[in-house]
Amino acid sequence: MKTNYVQIFDTTLRDGEQSPGASMNVEEKVAIARQLEQLNVDVIEAGFAASSEGDYDSVHRVAETVTRPIVLSLSRTKEGDIERAIRAVEKAKRPGIHIFIATSDIHLKHKLMMSRQEVVDAAAWAIGFAKKRLDYVEFSAEDASRSDRDYLVSVFTEVIKAGAVTINVPDTTGYALPEQTGELFRFLVANTPGGDRVSWSAHCHNDLGMAVANSLAAVAAGARQVECTVNGLGERAGNTSMEEVVMALKTRSDFFGLETGVVTEQIYPASRLVSQITGIAIPINKPIVGENAFAHEAGIHQDGVLKNKITYEIMRPETVGIGANRLVLGKHSGRHAFVDRLRTLGIAAPDMDMNKAFERFKALADKKKSVYDEDLISIVAGEAVRVPDRYELAHLHVTSSSEDEPQATVRVRVDGAERREHATGDGMVDACFKAIAQATGTHCTLERYAVKAITGGEDAQGEVSCLVRDGELTSTGQGAHTDIIMASALAFLNALNKMDYRKRYAERLRVEGP
Ligand code: KIV
Ligand code: ZN
Repeated sequence: MKTNYVQIFDTTLRDGEQSPGASMNVEEKVAIARQLEQLNVDVIEAGFAASSEGDYDSVHRVAETVTRPIVLSLSRTKEGDIERAIRAVEKAKRPGIHIFIATSDIHLKHKLMMSRQEVVDAAAWAIGFAKKRLDYVEFSAEDASRSDRDYLVSVFTEVIKAGAVTINVPDTTGYALPEQTGELFRFLVANTPGGDRVSWSAHCHNDLGMAVANSLAAVAAGARQVECTVNGLGERAGNTSMEEVVMALKTRSDFFGLETGVVTEQIYPASRLVSQITGIAIPINKPIVGENAFAHEAGIHQDGVLKNKITYEIMRPETVGIGANRLVLGKHSGRHAFVDRLRTLGIAAPDMDMNKAFERFKALADKKKSVYDEDLISIVAGEAVRVPDRYELAHLHVTSSSEDEPQATVRVRVDGAERREHATGDGMVDACFKAIAQATGTHCTLERYAVKAITGGEDAQGEVSCLVRDGELTSTGQGAHTDIIMASALAFLNALNKMDYRKRYAERLRVEGP
């Protein structure tokens, strides 16, 4: 099974969601899944169906939404988990399941309290049980990089016999080094009976900053699937970053001689969408998608690039979908041009409310002379995942001076009825959030607040993202506006609307089931 094609398995919706503060609602997951389909990833891990009603519902919704990629759910080796995972993907055109159990002695002794033989038996039984119902069955040996390699061979031999088609070798704790990873894969591929009939897969975490390097080492040693996430989101320090691994394979195809099916021009829109939805900012110096990834600062570099880009550029920004802040539309652009541009950017979701999105574009174009691709992505990311708004901002007035306490007056429509509130605060944003909280009768705490400028210039939009908490539940909100206090108010209201939606959704699932 050694071809030159590397399958991309995206786990943004499962392992990615395990990033602290990255939880997403079902609509947001569906919007991301659509973008993953545009990216042309091969497999989407949509969630862990048995872990909660919400996760089950998300897997189910993603399975019925996308058509080309395999959609699967994570599952433990337990019968109940497997049944639930299979049911969650039953509407998928190409359903699958991903079954895992830990194999390191550390996990066996301290977590599972099982013997090595018991783990082999549980794994083989689970794969055999799932295989009766699904063709696409993947097996993962959790904490493989810290497991005894001869023992891994015995586990893998049995699960391959039982019908696993993909064998995943996770570096669960981000402990491995690239040389060791390459060696481990070479050993497993060469010594596992039946290993030539399956696809070998790498799943690396980034605790020591080596997830991408380890994944590439695995690929060079025979792995033909990489598990990764958009922007490298994931448990703790994250997973292998999809954009980095894909662009490394593409840019250094002279070395690897391999390819993926990813439509690289969709990388940047995907990265922005995931950042908008999760509220987790992309570091400015992040490879491929960070703001500085293609910026040349030093005079010598600028001079070289002006003479010939090849002097300092190993990739073109256009290849990853960065349109160099291209001026696209303005106040006089029509609906047709707007929709057309969204299609070219690959961000027009079929069930998006295009009228609302166009209205937002017009409102922005009235304030801002030039509307860039970046602005459009921000409008659409908001619209694609907009939940029904219970709270709407009708009016905002803020004042501040070096002498007086900052004050805010808001009028907010709550279920259509307008409420007016006034508050003072440490700053204008604080006063504004307090007034909104009073008007909506909500008691969330603000855990994260970030503001950044989208595109340059005096009339640039400010993009605000915030994370609010109410007990166990968290939700993120985004707002973009040429005035950052307005952007802040919109972001806060968006987070409160999503929190309200989340509570009602959880209640509905409790009463009706998914
Ligand atoms: O990191 C890990 O081991 C995992 C498995 C469940 C595949 O995420
Ligand atoms: Zn993981």
